[in-house]
Amino acid sequence: MTAENSTADLTAASDTTVVSAAGEPTRPPLYGRKVLSFVRRSPRLDDRLQRAWDTYAHNYLLSGINAGEGSLDPRADLTLDTAYVQRVWGNANPLVIEIGSGQGENVAAAAEAHPELNFLALEVYDPGVAHTLLLAGKRGLRNLRIAQVNAPELMKAVAPGVVSEVWTFFPDPWPKMKHHKRRIVQPELAADVRRALADGGVWRIATDIEDYALHVHEVMDGRDDFANAGALTVSLPTEHVGKGNAADAAGLPHADFTESERFEGRVLTNFEKKGLAAGRVIHDFTYRTR
Ligand SMILES: C[S@@+](CC[C@H](N)C(=O)[O-])C[C@H]1O[C@@H](n2cnc3c(N)ncnc32)[C@H](O)[C@@H]1O
Repeated sequence: MTAENSTADLTAASDTTVVSAAGEPTRPPLYGRKVLSFVRRSPRLDDRLQRAWDTYAHNYLLSGINAGEGSLDPRADLTLDTAYVQRVWGNANPLVIEIGSGQGENVAAAAEAHPELNFLALEVYDPGVAHTLLLAGKRGLRNLRIAQVNAPELMKAVAPGVVSEVWTFFPDPWPKMKHHKRRIVQPELAADVRRALADGGVWRIATDIEDYALHVHEVMDGRDDFANAGALTVSLPTEHVGKGNAADAAGLPHADFTESERFEGRVLTNFEKKGLAAGRVIHDFTYRTR
């Protein structure tokens, strides 16, 4: 089993610090004025994760897909089509993509439980990528690959109809009002996910942040290319709150929205555990193509 390109590319991709002439860290130039759903950080990997990277990257981490050294953008001519799937996974099984896979607990468990499916984990954060490599390597998974890439940009490179499911579980909440635009679920991503999905495919989303749940409904429920396939009725405030006025939410006008039962294919990750421990309600969404 080999990923597409060389190990040398992969290790270069983990060294992401960019320094200005004055010696100050700067944002890499490739990002232009794009609104990003993540903050670029490049902490050192501890020994265990560095070892995992060195041992397993060549098997699992897709290299040669980034626009340049240290870039989290996909290269401009990348197309993730059925030929690419055949080349990388070695078969034409249905492809599931997890956007923002974090430590990889979920995608690794799913890949282990479903050898009949192909999985692609998209994550930007070095330690998350390294931990996913560790899980994949230790379990000897053959149907999982990882791309260290800005997920919304990668989704633009997916050919129409190639993906059977997209998962976005516990996306970064960006609680301040002025940061809501950084939330990864956005109309542009929804359109790209729809195009990538085969007819009948689903986008599964989960969040433990009530205000994010309202945000998902606003982005997704009015679309004519997705149907909300949930069967649960949930009452939510119909106005947004931010970090400063989150406590006001209960007193705001509420309305009923449709959501889903907990997705049984999701393992309990640390993010979900933290949300539950804090007494938050988990909101699950299933949007099916139409
Ligand atoms: C709150 S964590 C949740 C992780 C995982 N889904 C879980 O449930 O445990 C959100 C993850 O999304 C990743 N992320 C945020 N924006 C991203 C982007 N544009 N592309 C890829 N990953 C992203 C973050 O680095 C982080 O690991």
